[in-house]
Amino acid sequence: TTELPEGYSVRPLQRTDYQKGFLDVLRVLTKVGDISEEAWLERYDWMAKRNEEYFIICIVNGEGTIVGVGSLVIERKFLRNLGAVGHIEDITVQSSEQGKKLGLRIIQTLDHIAQQVGCYKCILDCSEKNQPFYEKCGYKLAGVQMVYHI
Ligand code: ACO
Repeated sequence: TTELPEGYSVRPLQRTDYQKGFLDVLRVLTKVGDISEEAWLERYDWMAKRNEEYFIICIVNGEGTIVGVGSLVIERKFLRNLGAVGHIEDITVQSSEQGKKLGLRIIQTLDHIAQQVGCYKCILDCSEKNQPFYEKCGYKLAGVQMVYHI
């Protein structure tokens, strides 16, 4: 796996991370909304009860501030002998921290978790702009993304 800058580390999302800038990192990706700490904890606890399904990781800097995040959701199947597929979601690195290989490290870590829990592949959706990044991470273009807006 790729080296992290001095003082940085990768770890699972923690219950106290509302205070550590988790939502601010997600805001680099898209709209997050105004989420209270109580509401955040309720969602965190819901996911924590499903800890064989939801894997959310953070990269923290030397001060303990979250600077990168990523999620892996495990989908269990009947096909492929009761196989499992990893869905990579919500990969984001704080703007000032981009270009330091943190994104690559997030993907490597999630791919490793997926392999450990028995997934036969990982898939993700991204914009054309991000395609070169995922290719650097070892992903290949496959299929067409479709959306139905509710
Ligand atoms: N175009 C071309 N190459 C790129 C791009 C790009 N847009 N972004 C990264 N790369 C290359 C880097 O140059 C590097 O190449 P190298 O190994 O030859 O030096 C390699 O990809 C790894 O780059 P990192 O430094 O690990 O990338 P970074 O830490 O900046 O993270 C990320 C990339 C996550 C896309 C970041 O730019 C970001 O947070 N963007 C805004 C949010 C976003 O769009 N997230 C992806 C959503 S898709 C999803 O979540 C499934």
